[in-house]
Amino acid sequence: MQNAAQIEFWNGDTGKNWVTHDALMEAMLAPLGERVLDSLAISAGTHALDIGCGCGHPTLSLARRIGASGSVTGVDISAPMLNLAQGLAEQAPEDSAPVSFIKADAQTYRFSETPFDVVFSRFGVMFFDEPVAAFSNIRGAMRPGGQLAFCCWQPRAVNPFMTIPALAAMELLPPPPEMPARAPGPFAFEEAEYVEQILFEADFSDITINPVSQPLVFGKGLSIEEIVDRLVQIGPIAQMVREAPEPLRQPVMDKVKIAVSPYYTEASGMILEGNFWQVSAAA
Ligand SMILES: C[S@@+](CC[C@H](N)C(=O)[O-])C[C@H]1O[C@@H](n2cnc3c(N)ncnc32)[C@H](O)[C@@H]1O
Repeated sequence: MQNAAQIEFWNGDTGKNWVTHDALMEAMLAPLGERVLDSLAISAGTHALDIGCGCGHPTLSLARRIGASGSVTGVDISAPMLNLAQGLAEQAPEDSAPVSFIKADAQTYRFSETPFDVVFSRFGVMFFDEPVAAFSNIRGAMRPGGQLAFCCWQPRAVNPFMTIPALAAMELLPPPPEMPARAPGPFAFEEAEYVEQILFEADFSDITINPVSQPLVFGKGLSIEEIVDRLVQIGPIAQMVREAPEPLRQPVMDKVKIAVSPYYTEASGMILEGNFWQVSAAA
C-alpha cells in the first residue's frame, strides 16, 4: 500500500501525542501558517483544500477567511488528529465556510468533481512515497489557474529546533538511523530545486519558492522542565527517547535541559529560529 509507513506513523504515538499537545504545537506553528494563508487571494465562494490538515487549525482559519458562501475540505491520514479537527469544526463561527474532513491519502484519493480554487498545506506535503504522483493528483482536483500554496522545512541544519535537542540527546544515545535524502519525512523537501522539479513534473506553472526565517516559540508559559518534558513527547527527539533504555531517560533529559536553557526565558518559553520554504504555484 502507498504511504503505509506514514499511515502507521501518524495513527500511532506521534498522531496521539500531537493531539495531546495540540495547543503547544498550534502556538508554535500558527504564525507560520498564517503567513502562507496571507499570500492567498481568497474571496467569497472560494472552494479550498487543506492537505495533511492534521488537527484542523489552518483548515478553520481558511474557512473564516473565505466566509459562509465557500467551502473548505481538510484531508489527512491520521484518525486521532482528524477526530480533534472535527470537534473544533463543530465550534466554528457561523459566518465561516462549511468545513468537511476526509480521512484519506492525498496522493491517491479521488476528490469530488467540484474543483478547488485554492490548495493549501502547512507542513503536510513532505510525506508522500511518490511526490510527483501526489501533486499530479492534487492538481487534477484543482480548477485550471487555481492557487497552490504551502510551507515545508528547509534543511535540518538550519533549523536548530530540530538539531539542538537532538545533539544533546546523542551525547548519551545512539544517533537515529540516517534517512536517505528525499525520503518521506519533515525534510524531504529541504532542497528548493527538488520541490520545483516535482511541481514542474506535476504540471504546475508559475512556481515560486521563497526562503522564510521566523522564530519558533515553543512552550510560552511553561517551565524549562516542562519544555524538556514536551520535547521528549512531541518534539524532534520523541522517538529517540521513547526507544531509549529507561535508566538513560532522565540523564538525557538533563542534557537536553542544559542545551536548550540559553534559548529559554520564563516570559517567552523556548525560542529558536525556524527556516522554511514558502511555495506557490498555479494549476
Ligand atoms: C507535520 S503534520 C502537519 C499537520 C497540520 N498541517 C499542521 O500544520 O498542524 C503533517 C500532517 O500530514 C499528514 N499526512 C502525511 N501523509 C499524508 C498523506 N499521504 N495524505 C494526507 N495527509 C498526510 C499527517 O497525518 C499529519 O497530520
